[in-house]
Amino acid sequence: MRVGVLTGGGDCPGLNAVIRAIVRKAERVYHDEVVGFMDGFSGVLEDRWMPLDIERCRGILPRGGTIIGTSRVQPFMYPDGVARVRATLDRRAIDALICIGGEGTLSATRDLAELGFPVVGVPKTIDNDIDGTEMTFGFDTAVQVATDAIDRLHTTAESHHRVMVVEVMGRHAGHIATWAGIAGGAALTLIPEEPFDIEAVCEAIKRRHASGRYATIVVVAEGAVPLPDTIDLGPQEIDLYGHIRLGGIGNVLASEIERRTGIETRVTILGHVQRGGKPSAFDRVLSTWFGVAAIDAVHDGAFGEMVALREGRVVRVSLAEATKSLKRVSPELYDVAKVFAP
Ligand code: F6P
Repeated sequence: MRVGVLTGGGDCPGLNAVIRAIVRKAERVYHDEVVGFMDGFSGVLEDRWMPLDIERCRGILPRGGTIIGTSRVQPFMYPDGVARVRATLDRRAIDALICIGGEGTLSATRDLAELGFPVVGVPKTIDNDIDGTEMTFGFDTAVQVATDAIDRLHTTAESHHRVMVVEVMGRHAGHIATWAGIAGGAALTLIPEEPFDIEAVCEAIKRRHASGRYATIVVVAEGAVPLPDTIDLGPQEIDLYGHIRLGGIGNVLASEIERRTGIETRVTILGHVQRGGKPSAFDRVLSTWFGVAAIDAVHDGAFGEMVALREGRVVRVSLAEATKSLKRVSPELYDVAKVFAP
C-alpha cells in the first residue's frame, strides 16, 4: 500500500513519535510506502509531500514539533478543496491517509470519510479535549511544563507575599489548568467549564492573605471567562482561521485582583512553551501506540475511525462519534481542585 500521513492543527509533543511508529510498522511489517504531506491539509491541497522511511525517522522520537510541518488549513475552506484532495491522492496513488490532529483536523477527516475517502484519525492536542479518548498525547508533557512553572512561581510568590496568576493553555476545556493546578498546589483554578465570580475569587484571596504570611497561586485556563457583566474583557482579536485569539485573561484577572484586593499581583503566561520541546515518556509511549494502531487500522480497512485510549487499551472509535462534542473536565476532578480554595 501507499499510505499518506499528515499532521494538522497546533503542534504537540509526540507528533514525531506517531510518525515514526507508523513508518516503522508500515515498512517492516506491511511493506508499505509512506508519504508525509507537508503542513497538514495544505500539503494535500497543493501536492507537497516528502517520502518517509525508517532512515528519515531516525532520532525523531524525542523531538517536539513535527518533521512534516502543520497548519490549520482544511479542504472544506475552499470550494474546490475536496476535488484537490481527490486529485492529489489519485496522482500520488495514495491508498489511505492517516490524519493526526485535534478537533478541526478530525472533523475534516470525518467529513472526508463520509465522502468515501479512505482516512483514519489519530487524536492529538495538548488540551486533551477530544471526546472518545481518555487521553491525547502532548497533554502529559504540557501538564508537566505547567507544573514545573508553578513550582518555581511558588517560591517567588512566597518571598514577596504576592498573588501569582499563571495562565495556561486550554481553549474550550480546562484539563491542563485542573491537572497542573492540583499538581502544583494552586489555591484557585479557573477553567472555561465554569465561569468565575471575580468577587468570590478576590474574597478568597483576601481571606488567605489575612494572616500576612501567605502567597497565592491562581491558575487560569486561557479560555476561562468571568460571569457575565462582571469584567470588561475589551476587544477580542480573531486569527486567520476565525478563532478568537486567546491569551490575555491572565492579565485581565491579575489587574482586577490587584485593584480589588490591594495585594500585589503578577502574571505569567506560559503560552507555547507548553507545546514545544520533547515529549514526556508517557506521551512517547501513547504516541507510539497510537501510530502502530493507526497503520493497523489502515490495513483492516477501518476508515472513518480514530484510534483512542480507553480503559488502558488502544481501541478504535468512529470519527463521527468522537467529534460530536468536546471532552470537558469532569465535575468530580474539578471538585478535587476546589478543596484547596481558601
Ligand atoms: O493546540 C491547542 C492550542 O494549544 C490551544 O490551547 C490554543 O488556544 C491554541 O492551540 C493556540 O494556537 P496557535 O498556536 O495557533 O496560536
